[in-house]
Amino acid sequence: MALEFKAGNMPFRRLGSSGLRVPLFSLGGWLTLGGSVKGDPVKEIIKTAFDNGINMFDTAEAYAKGQSEVEIGRVIKELGFRRSDLIVTTKLFWGVRDGPNDGGLSRKHIIEGTKESLERLQLDYVDVIFAHRPDPTIPMEEVVRAFNFVIEKGWAFYWATSEWSAYEIAEAHHVSTKLGLIAPIAEQCKHHMFHRERPEKEYEPLYRKYNLGTTVFSALAQGILTGKYNNGVPPDSRLAIEKGPLFEGLKKWLDSDEGKDQINKIKQLSEFAEKELNASVSSLALAWIAVNPNTSTVILGASKPEQVVENLKALEVIPKLTPEVLEKIEVILGNKPAPDPTYGRFPLQGGLPKL
Ligand SMILES: NC(=O)c1ccc[n+]([C@@H]2O[C@H](COP(=O)([O-])OP(=O)(O)OC[C@H]3O[C@@H](n4cnc5c(N)ncnc54)[C@H](OP(=O)(O)O)[C@@H]3O)[C@@H](O)[C@H]2O)c1
Repeated sequence: MALEFKAGNMPFRRLGSSGLRVPLFSLGGWLTLGGSVKGDPVKEIIKTAFDNGINMFDTAEAYAKGQSEVEIGRVIKELGFRRSDLIVTTKLFWGVRDGPNDGGLSRKHIIEGTKESLERLQLDYVDVIFAHRPDPTIPMEEVVRAFNFVIEKGWAFYWATSEWSAYEIAEAHHVSTKLGLIAPIAEQCKHHMFHRERPEKEYEPLYRKYNLGTTVFSALAQGILTGKYNNGVPPDSRLAIEKGPLFEGLKKWLDSDEGKDQINKIKQLSEFAEKELNASVSSLALAWIAVNPNTSTVILGASKPEQVVENLKALEVIPKLTPEVLEKIEVILGNKPAPDPTYGRFPLQGGLPKL
């Protein structure tokens, strides 16, 4: 018999203008599920998430070279989840092999890549398929038509983008409208307390014009916003375990003036969170993303089940983030992107209108 899904106190939001209702917190597999975490511990993390109201799981063809999809698919099967209870999302772009047609957003790779992902996941369909990056070498019409083909085939219900510029997302909408085809419903974007320009400013007209949804990643800045890197790199942490230029760069950055300045702000935020909200800085950082009205879901990353439980304490912090509290946080952060000007001609009370 299928395991019964209980949403509990997990809020659900529509993903952009689509009818898909996503949990405010979901779980992703980058680096962890199928990567640094394999076998039974993957099951424990996914089961813990499911038992706590998380029924949405995000992965990508490229995560652990396909092993993330393999592990997540295996666990879904072994735990006996009912497919209709779940939202499974995957992403295409980097591929799992290096051939000239094994990645990118050509019609060939979008169709072949989707089929391979479904095979690894042991699923008939994913709920949302993402273009993991834009592909400036392929005409937008080919990209839009190929994702629509995938949807018409029933291999995905919706398509979406990740780390596309506002211009590229607007172009996808323009081409979709011109061709009478389905446009992307959401953007999977990086958004955390120290990364704000693109999600809060560049995309702002897209929220108003297209009701763009967001599946936010790295809300904890890869763990930095938990405060665990305040006094160096702990040996069992992502920055100690992962190799390669991205992580070497991050470690160097922690030692830079900018890095030290941000660690200092994290210390101030920790004190604020403890004193004023009776919460940890990680809960505050996650709740802060969740209260943003343009966030559809915050994708958590976790290398242990306890981190999932700990991070869901953010749900208790959300009601405490009143406008006054948010203003105090802005004072600590000091990095709020300036709104687009209306040239002094139009008052901005109540924010800018829908377009
Ligand atoms: N579309 C894209 O390009 C893209 C890019 C990145 C991520 N994503 C998606 O978003 C998901 C989340 O991204 P992310 O992993 O960067 O998110 P994150 O929340 O910023 O970082 C998660 C990592 O922080 C550490 N952590 C989390 N909670 C903790 C806690 N309570 N205490 C101590 N450490 C804690 C863990 O790492 P350790 O325990 O290993 O230190 C964990 O794996 C990914 O799995 C993926 O699905 C998408």
